[in-house]
Amino acid sequence: MKLFIIGGAGYIGSHIVKLAYENGHEVITLDNLSTGHKDSVLYGKFEYCDIQDSNRLNELFKNYNPDAVMHFSAYSIVGESTIDPYKYYYNNTVGTLNLLKIMIDNDCKNFIFSSTAAVFGNPEYIPIDETHPKNPINPYGKSKLMVEQMLEDFDSAHGLKYVVFRYFNAAGHDKSGKLAERHDPETHLLPLVIQTLNGQRESISIYGSDYDTKDGTCIRDYIHVNDLAQVHLQGVEYLLSGDNGSKVYNLGSGNGFSVKEIIEKVKGITGKDFKVIEDERREGDPAVLIASSKRAKKELGFSPKIDKIDDIIRTLIN
Ligand code: UFG
Repeated sequence: MKLFIIGGAGYIGSHIVKLAYENGHEVITLDNLSTGHKDSVLYGKFEYCDIQDSNRLNELFKNYNPDAVMHFSAYSIVGESTIDPYKYYYNNTVGTLNLLKIMIDNDCKNFIFSSTAAVFGNPEYIPIDETHPKNPINPYGKSKLMVEQMLEDFDSAHGLKYVVFRYFNAAGHDKSGKLAERHDPETHLLPLVIQTLNGQRESISIYGSDYDTKDGTCIRDYIHVNDLAQVHLQGVEYLLSGDNGSKVYNLGSGNGFSVKEIIEKVKGITGKDFKVIEDERREGDPAVLIASSKRAKKELGFSPKIDKIDDIIRTLIN
């Protein structure tokens, strides 16, 4: 398959570029390098492109004529989205709308979309399945939910077929050691804990210890980035293997770990201590997010290989 991987220079995208290439696909990364790193694109071709730039997108679709598009180029920091919503709606929603228009114009109708658990907001029940009500509590989640809604309409009107994957907390690194989570600034819990362990930071803050959870800190469902990458390939194979309908899947491990538990696990695995500070809550954080991935398991054969939190953490430490 010839795949456009938009945002292939980012954390999740670069892992997918690698796996898709290793599975024999032709991969072309499109990225504006606003948060990604060109040296994270280990395989295939790289084309500089911003998804707002219709002329450039048109030119690339005409040059390559891809079989499918996988789209990862979004801003994804919950807290930032609450203080700069324009940035999120403009890139994540308007940018994707532009991309969809160019896809239809070029008769490319297979689309994999990277969505998020943030579309659900505060859960009404756990684990969260695909039919759970969608009430996002931050602009990031809303910017992604709007795309999910646009996709339904593009399917009805133009026959665009899509698979939406809603990730819970992507974590870990590829075992080659060649790829890493390299956000700047880093905001995610696990990489920040590792930086504290390494002495790159003085301490790790726990954002809120008064949530309605067993130890008062937020609970999240961590899924290894290579398991995410693998199921994306299964998704694109599904789309291209016949006249298949559009689908939406939640992706997680089904297990939840609190912020305190994650910190204690890193200390336990490494045998090293570091400074932990109990801080204020961070705006936009739901207390608990745990996925039900039954549908992806049943229909796509989703089968996470690195499914123990200790093993996910080890891939970061290594
Ligand atoms: N946290 C801390 N201290 C830190 C960093 C994070 O206590 O220094 C806490 C957060 O408050 C949260 C938990 O650790 O409770 C996880 O936070 P992350 O920033 O690692 O991840 P999020 O859950 O906020 O966000 C991630 C993705 C989003 C996605 C969301 C869905 O970045 O894109 O998961 O679960 F929407």
